[in-house]
Amino acid sequence: MSDLDAVLAQIDNDLEASLERLFALLRIKSISTDPAYTAECRRCAEWHAHDLRSIGFDATVNDTPGHPIVTGHARQGDGPSALFYGHYDVQPVDPLELWEGDPFEPVILTRPDGSRYIRARGASDDKGQVMTFVEACRAWQAVAGALPIPLSIVLEGEEESGGASLPPFLEQHAAALRADIGLICDTGMLDPRTPAITTMLRGLCGEEVIIEAADRDLHSGLYGSAAQNPNHVLARILADLHDETGRVTIPGFYDGVDELPAELKAAWDNLPVDAADFLGAVGLSVPAGEQGRSIFEQTWSRPTAEVNGMGGGYQGDGFKTVIPARASAKVSFRLVFDQDPHEIREAFRSFVRARLPADCKVRFIEHGAGRAIRFPIDAPAFGRTRDALTAEWGRKAVFIGSGGSIPVAHELKEKLGMDVVLTGFSLDDDRIHSPNEKYELESFRRGIRSWARILASLAE
Ligand code: BES
Ligand code: ZN
Repeated sequence: MSDLDAVLAQIDNDLEASLERLFALLRIKSISTDPAYTAECRRCAEWHAHDLRSIGFDATVNDTPGHPIVTGHARQGDGPSALFYGHYDVQPVDPLELWEGDPFEPVILTRPDGSRYIRARGASDDKGQVMTFVEACRAWQAVAGALPIPLSIVLEGEEESGGASLPPFLEQHAAALRADIGLICDTGMLDPRTPAITTMLRGLCGEEVIIEAADRDLHSGLYGSAAQNPNHVLARILADLHDETGRVTIPGFYDGVDELPAELKAAWDNLPVDAADFLGAVGLSVPAGEQGRSIFEQTWSRPTAEVNGMGGGYQGDGFKTVIPARASAKVSFRLVFDQDPHEIREAFRSFVRARLPADCKVRFIEHGAGRAIRFPIDAPAFGRTRDALTAEWGRKAVFIGSGGSIPVAHELKEKLGMDVVLTGFSLDDDRIHSPNEKYELESFRRGIRSWARILASLAE
């Protein structure tokens, strides 16, 4: 039996214990955006450091101005080195009433067809995925007494809240963290059977806009139509963001946006998933984005403006006749190619100011920025990862884009000069950031096996 075969057998034998470890991690309420959970974030970092030490990593919990960053090194041996990145923080759980169980009490549920999944906040994004990598390392240590290649790990606690601690940390610790290749397990498969390497991620610019008019809430009968209504003003501005063909109307928004190379567009057109599959899975049918673009273009290679939250006036039960003094919205822009998040932010602010009527004031709050990223796939690690994934899943792994954002990918390239192989085992229907987040048991099991194979193939 080869070492790799023994490691794969060890993974299957140890699956119950791996699940127990994952469940312990999922019980920690590491919601990074909410200060009420600061201590839980630290507890989560400590948990990881303790666990990493148990499998031979020299692990540290590093304080930052925000949540701690865990680092670990197991750089024995030679061969090409790798730095694995993951995040231990999770999104808030609201609306809680839509969960079919406690978000922080993980359970395994079985469908009528026998397939099983883990339900918990963070099961897929990103605790389950991080543990696929950690468990693969554990199995290599158990079987071979060493990892196939020198490895470092960095786990942050502010990914979901656009935190600012990681970029300066990477810069400060560049010498200790730099490796030949970066590895990230925070992306998905093309579909439940087709493994994928994500080579393009969109960037992000988050912005909150607050419009205020009168110096108090007003009775809508006494003042209605004579007084500016911030709800109306905000709604009109937000509605103006798109034209009837789905294009964003902010001047300069498409500066730096290229068309896809023909070869890539053809490859995406041939992927075995179409709009009906993609939208049908979430109860939709008609692509709502830019006309004339495929769903892959719409979500992977075209920029967007989306209103993620809006509020103003009475939102409680019943009815209240009021003109609110203020209205606000949280808007995110997904960015592609060379769009500059700071220029987009300024362009949006000018767009809003230009539409502001008399008696209204506007304020903005910045919520994070990151550029889009594309990795060339000719570095050997990409081909090796593809082969390892293909061997595990019995289906040729594909190179895809993704609509989501993983800001660190750009930082690793920029600050440490590293290319990053992004592969992961989440599915589009994992409900990440939503109630009833889940991770397929097969994603977990075969994810661990995939990493065991990838580590072996990187050593070759
Ligand atoms: N893991 C996701 C991003 C993702 C999911 C990429 C699935 C590819 C496939 C990540 O944790 C995430 O949600 N990121 C945020 C970033 C933001 C808050 C700065 C996002 O994309 O909204
Ligand atoms: Zn994530």
